Amino acid sequence: MFNNTRIALFEHLKTPCYFYDTDLLHRTLFAIKEAANLYNYKIHYAIKANANENILRIISSYEIGADCVSAYEIERSLNCGFKPSKIVFAGVGKTDDEIKYAINKDIYCINCESLEELNVINSLARILKKKVRVALRINPNINAETHENITTGLDTNKFGIPYKDLIVITDNIHNYSNLIIDGLHFHIGSQITNLNVFRNLCNKINEIQEYLNSKHITVNHINVGGGLGIDYKKPEGQIPDFQAYLEVFKKNLNTDENQSVHFEPGRSLVGQSAILLSKVLFVKENGSRKTMIIDAGFTELIRPALYQAEHKIINLSSNEAYETYDVAGPICETSDYFGRSIQMSKSKRGDLIAILSTGAYGEVMSSQYNLRTPALKYYSKDFELAENEILL
Ligand code: LLP
Repeated sequence: MFNNTRIALFEHLKTPCYFYDTDLLHRTLFAIKEAANLYNYKIHYAIKANANENILRIISSYEIGADCVSAYEIERSLNCGFKPSKIVFAGVGKTDDEIKYAINKDIYCINCESLEELNVINSLARILKKKVRVALRINPNINAETHENITTGLDTNKFGIPYKDLIVITDNIHNYSNLIIDGLHFHIGSQITNLNVFRNLCNKINEIQEYLNSKHITVNHINVGGGLGIDYKKPEGQIPDFQAYLEVFKKNLNTDENQSVHFEPGRSLVGQSAILLSKVLFVKENGSRKTMIIDAGFTELIRPALYQAEHKIINLSSNEAYETYDVAGPICETSDYFGRSIQMSKSKRGDLIAILSTGAYGEVMSSQYNLRTPALKYYSKDFELAENEILL
């Protein structure tokens, strides 16, 4: 992502801004398609990770489906080339209008998160005179071994149907006359780096399927959600090991030949494909600490403030010896830091700073707090011409 020609071009950009490496994105998408095709696994990109329209158009061009959590996400994915037949819709609090929207758009499946919601979808489907495909999102009570704010599959989390309600549903399965109970859905958390966690998930799904079989119920599809983590410490050019990830499911998940297996990766598809560029405004010394104030804040990237996430930060303008900095933004909040005690080349006002691995949950979670204007976006494909001119 960084060569001298490119850094020279970066120097002219108005900061803070996002720079997308579309070439890396293409290679990442190619890698997951290739790995998924081996087992005929279906991929639905989790739109919430990055809903930038240019990025969505690239992703949909790989014939990947979409995982949405609001009617607006469904609308955006349809506008950006995702096929309705490959869209799934989850969300713990869908409104009636959103459910009706999803039904009217004939999407692949609504992932239902509670007993009460199942009854609501059934009645709305009856009113609209439709049979609607749903998957039951079960809360499997599995520890994803990740930050508590991105853990979703424990009993204490709000997501999914508790096991006791699954029993109520299966006992009353014939009452849902306007629903096709087509699948099981799970999503236990995000930024999961221990693949054993997914093996535990498979074991739990196997148990649930055994229970369903004992009730003579079979589902056509199993959706195991997303969650595969990325390497924030050594990010440059990294494509996640999709093959190893999918193999865990191939080896551990019991399915019959008529069942399809679906995945909802978000972060792992887009995370490494963007950097946030910023400039140093001031460097101030406070006792023994040096604090670098940059022109990006948590309004552009909230992950460090919200999840204590550590993104690699580098100074693109300086080759001097390393010093230790606290890196902070300009927002009037004490939590507006990108990192503390970061080793970086000696930095001064005007230096260009890159915060790496910001393609997932970066731009999409930005806000206008302090009345900040949205960061600009640039794409490597638009840089190629200019780079060639400089090289010539
Ligand atoms: N499916 C469902 C139902 C989800 O809730 C999520 C993410 C995904 C798939 C995609 O998960 P991924 O592959 O991206 O891990 N803002 C947080 C992450 C929140 C994830 C929410 N759900 C962060 O910046 O770490």
